[in-house]
Amino acid sequence: MPTEKHWQDLITFDALEKDWVTSAQIGKRHFAVYQTGDDGDEVYVSSALCSHAGAELCDGYFQGHLIECPLHQGCFDIRTGVAVSAPAVRPIKCFECRVEDGVVQVLL
Ligand code: FES
Repeated sequence: MPTEKHWQDLITFDALEKDWVTSAQIGKRHFAVYQTGDDGDEVYVSSALCSHAGAELCDGYFQGHLIECPLHQGCFDIRTGVAVSAPAVRPIKCFECRVEDGVVQVLL
């Protein structure tokens, strides 16, 4: 039987920085939170670790909608999690998110 998902507070929107990726966690789960868009009004959340060899994506280079892994430079589209350049081939997990009352929430 599938477990019902709930919106959970992750990080305040003010803690984010436009065109930057910020580390956040809920309990023991680590996430990467991205703020982008012309007005900085787009927020995305993914797993914090690269699907290739587990590097910390928050230490990577972020531009537009792409995060480049700091270890082997594999790239992912943070809107979908799809790996767009080698050596990464498997997607990273992305989470549905929203901003409510100044707080970024993820559906878990
Ligand atoms: S650990 Fe990320 S591309 Fe290798």
